[in-house]
Amino acid sequence: MGLSVKHLLGIKELNVQDIEQIFKTADNFKQVLQRPIKKVPTLRDTTVANIFFENSTRTRLSFELAEKRLGADVVNFSASGSSVSKGETLIDTVNNILAMKVDMVVMRHSASGAPWFLANHIDASIVNAGDGTNEHPTQALLDAYSMREKLGSLKGRRIALLGDIMHSRVALSNIYCLNKLGAEVTVSGPPTLIPKHIESLGVRVEYDVKKALEWCDVANVLRIQLERQHKPLFSTLREYAMYYGVNKSMLDSIERDIVIMHPGPINRGVEINSDVADSKQSIILGQVENGVAIRMAVIYLLSGKREVVE
Ligand code: CP
Repeated sequence: MGLSVKHLLGIKELNVQDIEQIFKTADNFKQVLQRPIKKVPTLRDTTVANIFFENSTRTRLSFELAEKRLGADVVNFSASGSSVSKGETLIDTVNNILAMKVDMVVMRHSASGAPWFLANHIDASIVNAGDGTNEHPTQALLDAYSMREKLGSLKGRRIALLGDIMHSRVALSNIYCLNKLGAEVTVSGPPTLIPKHIESLGVRVEYDVKKALEWCDVANVLRIQLERQHKPLFSTLREYAMYYGVNKSMLDSIERDIVIMHPGPINRGVEINSDVADSKQSIILGQVENGVAIRMAVIYLLSGKREVVE
C-alpha cells in the first residue's frame, strides 16, 4: 500500500485512507523512537534535501531527525546565506540541488502555492513544510494524530481553532484534516482575523473565545502572525491578550478538562499564558514528539520503499 499522491503538497489532496495509513505507519515509527537505537535503515540509499526559504525551528529539526532516523542522507539549505540573494530563481536553485542526486525535497516557502509550482517543474517527490498562508500538512497530521492519541476517534469530536485564522496555514490544514476525519470544527478569534465566508469550508465561527472553549474537547491555539499582517488588525498585543488570549481563569471556569494544543512558536502572554501552555491539560511538547514519527511516516510512504519496519 502507498499513498494516493506522489507529493505531500496539502491535506486537501489526501483522502481518508491516506491519512489513516500515515497514522498507522507513524504508530510503528513511534515504537522505533522508544528504542535505545532510534533508527531503521529503510532509506539508506535515499538523499533528502530540506530547502527552507523561511525560518523554522520545529519543522526543520523534526524533518531532519525523521530523515536521519530512516537512515537517509540529508542536506539542508537555507535561503539566507545562499545564492538566492544573487537572484537565483526557485527552479534553478532546486534543479541545482537535484543535480547532486537528491531524491526528495522538503520545502518551506513564504509564497503560497510554491510547492505546487515546483511540483510542475521537477520529478522528485516534494513535501510541503509550510507555504505562506496556505497549508502546513505535516503540522495538521501531527495535530490530528496527537488529538487521536488523547481522545480516540475524532468522529464527532469538537475542535476549536483559536486566534489568527486569517494568516494561519496550520488553521487551513487542520480544517481540511479534521473535516476528513469527521470532527466538528469551530474557529474563534477577532473578526479581523477570521476570513469572510470561512463557513464554506464546513466550520462554525464563534467570536467569543470563552464560548468556543466551553464548547470544545480540544483547543488548538494559534500564533498571532505579526510578520504576515501588513496593516494593524487589532489595537495592541495587550488588548489581544485581554480579549482573545487563553488564560488559566478561563480554563478553571470550564467544568471539563479540555485538551490544549499549540503548533509553536508560542507568543507567551499573548495568545496563550504560560500557566495554560505549561499546564497538565497541555500536550504541546507531545505534538512536537509526534511530529518526528509523522514525518518519518510521510517520507517513508512517499519514498515507495516497502521494507517492513521491525
Ligand atoms: N510549528 C511550526 O511550523 O514551527 P516552526 O515554524 O518552528 O517550524
